[in-house]
Amino acid sequence: MSCEFCSHQTPSLDDLGVITKVDKGDMFSLTQKMPEDIEQALSDFGTRTFSRFSPVNIVIAGMGGSAISGDIANSLLRDELSIPLIVMRDYNLPSFIKRTTLFFAVSYSGNTEETLSAYNEAKAKNARCVVISSGGKLKEIAGDDVYISLPSGMPPRAAFPFIFVPLVRSLEAMEIVKKRNDWQEAIELLRELREEYSPLTPTPENNAKKLAYSLKGKLPLIYASSPLLYGVALRWKTQINENAKAHAYVDYFPELHHNEIMAWERNDKVANFAVVLLRDKGENDRIKKRIEITKELIGDKTEIYEVWTRGEGKLARIFSLIYFGDMLSLYLAVLYGVDPQEIDFINHIKNKLGKFPTS
Ligand code: F6R
Repeated sequence: MSCEFCSHQTPSLDDLGVITKVDKGDMFSLTQKMPEDIEQALSDFGTRTFSRFSPVNIVIAGMGGSAISGDIANSLLRDELSIPLIVMRDYNLPSFIKRTTLFFAVSYSGNTEETLSAYNEAKAKNARCVVISSGGKLKEIAGDDVYISLPSGMPPRAAFPFIFVPLVRSLEAMEIVKKRNDWQEAIELLRELREEYSPLTPTPENNAKKLAYSLKGKLPLIYASSPLLYGVALRWKTQINENAKAHAYVDYFPELHHNEIMAWERNDKVANFAVVLLRDKGENDRIKKRIEITKELIGDKTEIYEVWTRGEGKLARIFSLIYFGDMLSLYLAVLYGVDPQEIDFINHIKNKLGKFPTS
C-alpha cells in the first residue's frame, strides 16, 4: 500500500481525543467487539432445530444493514449450495417464489416497510418463512413462523454478526449446507486484527488508518477480485456511505472488464478517484492475469490500493476484510468530522414515508 499519508495530517487519527469527539455513538467500540458478537450469536443460536424441509430455492429479503448478511452468506456458501440463494431488496417478490421457497425476512428493527411487504407476499404464497428481527412489526406478524430474536439497541449495520450467524446456522440446521468448523479461526483472527487496526495502533503500523488518509477527498472505486468478496465489497461501499457519509462505488472482476474499464480509456487522469482492489488468495488465475492487465492500463491514471484477505478458511478471509472495511469507514468518518452512527437522511426518509399509509 502506498504511503503518502502522514500522521501529522489533520485531524490526526492517532489523537484519541479527536476520535472520541466525533464518535458520539461509540461505533468504534460496537465494531471492535465483532469477535465477541460472533461468539454471542453462535451461543444464542445454540442447537436450534428446524422441521424437515427441502426447498428448491432460498430468498433472503431485507434492506441495507440487514440485507448485507444475505450477500455475505451467499459469497461464503456459493460453492456448497445446490439450490439458488437470492438476496431481495424490494417490496414485491418475483413469481418464482412459491411454497417450495425457503424465505428469510430479515429486518433488524422489524419495521422496514420493504421487508414487511415482501414478507407478507411470501406468507401469501405459503413459502416456508423464517423471521429475523430485534422486535417491531415483523415480530408481531410472525405468527407460527420460526422467529429468531436479535439483541436490541444497536445500529442495524453494527448488528451484522448477530444477523449473519443465524442465517448461516439455520441453513446448516436444515442440512442445506454442511456444518462449518472455521468460526474459531475467524474469531481469533479478528482479535488480532482488532489490535492491528485499533485507534491505539499508530498510523505507520495501522493499514486501516493509512488507507483512510489515502481515500480522504477521493471517490473510492472498490473492485472485488472474486465471488468470495462480492458481498464484502458491497459492505465496504455501504459502510463508507453510512459511517463516513461519503460516496463509494463497487464493481467486480471479471465483469468490469466488459464495461467499467472503458471509462478509464477516456479518463486520462482522474484525480479524485482511487481504486481499491479487494483480493483473495483463492482468486481465479485468469483473474490474477486480468488484474495485472488492469494495472498496466490504468496504473498511471489513478492510485491503486490492494487489500488482501487474511486467514485460511473462507470465513476468516471474509471477516478479515469486513473488519478492515468497517474500521476504515470509521477512520474516514473521523477524517471528515462526521459522527459515524448518525443516519439522519435514512431516518428522515423513513419518517416521511411513514406518514403515507401503505396500500
Ligand atoms: C442502519 C443501517 C440501514 C438499515 C436499513 C434497514 O444502521 O444499516 O441500512 O439496516 O435502513 O433497516 P432495518 O435493518 O431495521 O430493516
